[in-house]
Amino acid sequence: MSHDISALTLAQKASLLSGQGFWTTKAIEDAGIPSIMLTDGPHGIRRQDGAADHLGINDALPATCFPPAVAVGSSWDPEVAAEVGAALGREALAAGVSVVLGPGVNIKRSPLCGRNFEYYSEDPLLSGVLGSAHVQAMQRVGPGASVKHFAANNQEHERMRISAEVDERTLREIYLPAFERVVTEAAPATVMAAYNKVNGVPASHSPWLLTDVLRTEWGFQGAVVSDWGAVSDRVAGVAAGMDLEMPGRGVATDQEIVDAVRSGRLSEEQVDVAVHRVLALTDLPHRPTGTVDVDAHHELARTLAADSVVLLKNDRDVLPVTTVAHMAVIGPLAVEPRFQGGGSSHINPTRVDAALDRIRDHARQRGMAVEYAEGYLLGDDMNARARCDVAADLATRADLAIVFAGLSEREESEGFDRETLSLPAEQIEVIKAVAAAAPRTVVVLSNGGVVSLEGWHDQVDGILEGWLLGQAGGSAIADVLFGVVNPSGHLAETIPFRVQDNPSWHNFPGEQGHVRYGEGVMVGYRHYESAGIPVRYPFGHGLSYTTFRTSNLRVESVGTDSASVQVTITNTGERAGKHVVQVYVATEAGPVRRPVRELRAFAKAALEPGETTTVGFTLDRRAFAYWDITLGQWVVPAGDYVIQIGENASSIVAEQSIALTGDVIVRPLTLESPVGEWLSHPAVGPAMVGVLSSGTADEEPVEVGLRMVESMPMQQFLAFTGGAFPMEMLEHMMELSTAGTAAV
Ligand code: BGC
Repeated sequence: MSHDISALTLAQKASLLSGQGFWTTKAIEDAGIPSIMLTDGPHGIRRQDGAADHLGINDALPATCFPPAVAVGSSWDPEVAAEVGAALGREALAAGVSVVLGPGVNIKRSPLCGRNFEYYSEDPLLSGVLGSAHVQAMQRVGPGASVKHFAANNQEHERMRISAEVDERTLREIYLPAFERVVTEAAPATVMAAYNKVNGVPASHSPWLLTDVLRTEWGFQGAVVSDWGAVSDRVAGVAAGMDLEMPGRGVATDQEIVDAVRSGRLSEEQVDVAVHRVLALTDLPHRPTGTVDVDAHHELARTLAADSVVLLKNDRDVLPVTTVAHMAVIGPLAVEPRFQGGGSSHINPTRVDAALDRIRDHARQRGMAVEYAEGYLLGDDMNARARCDVAADLATRADLAIVFAGLSEREESEGFDRETLSLPAEQIEVIKAVAAAAPRTVVVLSNGGVVSLEGWHDQVDGILEGWLLGQAGGSAIADVLFGVVNPSGHLAETIPFRVQDNPSWHNFPGEQGHVRYGEGVMVGYRHYESAGIPVRYPFGHGLSYTTFRTSNLRVESVGTDSASVQVTITNTGERAGKHVVQVYVATEAGPVRRPVRELRAFAKAALEPGETTTVGFTLDRRAFAYWDITLGQWVVPAGDYVIQIGENASSIVAEQSIALTGDVIVRPLTLESPVGEWLSHPAVGPAMVGVLSSGTADEEPVEVGLRMVESMPMQQFLAFTGGAFPMEMLEHMMELSTAGTAAV
């Protein structure tokens, strides 16, 4: 709905561009403009009716805590993301919340980022597909989303002032595509501008990000809202396309906008545009409607969590738990689960399931005995040795020991990054002592960011990565342990052997106000696979209690720059299960170094035992393109492309190569262009080579000589050779080069 703002004064209009306080926009009652509420997000509604804060310190009203993004990422299932989005939409409607702040689609550049639990993946496609499903489903229910934090907010250290130094190809291929997908597919009501700077310009004041890319290129129609406290220059923000400053800082900064219009630094039209975008948010539902079925949402949270658990290791089929008489459960995380991260996303849950309770339920039904020992404390412990001994003693008497290990909010949270991937030392001691004592040991992990499995991995039989699973995570873990649910999660991020192996290691978290994204596009598995660096578990890894066969891969090119893919999947085991088909593209085509392979499509299929299905994909041009910095556009170079079906990013089970003609690119030659480019230019190259070769009987010396000058700009070449080519000829060739067609 378009709003008539002609009756508003400049001061009133300026006032609409910042919040009333922490969570609401300003109302202008005389003009019929209501106030609306924005709250976190992203995996529960954090509606505060008392003291407000953006760090999750003060209480919020009870709401369902759904699985955080780290879990949803591991589900590899847009349906899971959509269910979370829709349920949040329902809870927001009931609470009268118009905009829910999330999802966060920042890329997990380093496993050390303290806020990785709020992000989906190290891969932009996976992040974008899940984020888009979340936003579409939530907005279908009614409330608006706020995809965040735009852009290149990949660490917590100095997050409010660090400048992410990222080259444009890397931004376009890694850090922007998830936002691009959410904006272009799901049309979120708002985009949240990040705290950090990008290449020296604050993201919340960046005309390039907020106007050129977001609106002009991607067609964003909604409002840009600042991250809480991200704005340092109101006027620069409005001029850049940052519409709503949150939280509001009172009349003084609104007055800065008025003054800027009066002095001509800002036009009133610019203010009007921002006002219209903010007023459009008041069309979102803002009066509490409907009720929340708290029980149903808890059950939903349990189902979604179970779909997100990743079975990393399952030697000797230690899981699911079947023929066990006496089970030892160890670790306080089984009793007091860690199911969400610290900071602005901190939800006051409607209830919390402890894994131990649900394990006892399942065990009772099967006539199994369960005993519990603490083993360690989350925090300082004067009696660590004794506590560990008690656990080991219990394990000696059990057929199976299950150790719950993980991180506490002391180790990871919004606001700071981790310094190590290790589990706390006392937990490692307990795992080792229990594994030495029990005939079989399973470790269940609760952690928001990747933890190292080294020092104990080989001593245990099974590992279940439970991440942070939301308030029903305890039940979900028990369901997976007992095979009530067949695990189907896959890693959305690599588990390296050593943190030093991560490509950002030398440049994380930056220094003196700058963090250099020196690894470029080689983020996560793109680096490990390209450099051949072994990892503990690759991106995409995840086991099941059943087995799947991949067959009959059929790939066909479509037009010059796209392809269609079909592949057949069969459940060859004895249980129903879900399989993730992962489609990677591998190529060396084009003038830039490409990662060895990149995820370009995926789908999750549910199959009964013995069932077969065929899954089809369309790979559009972006699946084959790179961002060309000289042309400032996506380019599909002519060449060979291998379509690979991976069990994970390291293990390819089927592949087929296709040749694409790619784009027709005109690269005009100038005197700055290197000699090699002139000689290889399809329109003029052959003639140039002809001139050089004429008069030489033996071709080899010319070739050797050419290699030496290939990278020399033509201008210098002319100077050194005393004019190897006549200038009129070069001028003619330059003209031909712009008109002619040439492949990259
Ligand atoms: C966080 C945002 C959050 C906002 C409001 C900020 O500190 O970075 O993600 O939405 O606070 O709580």
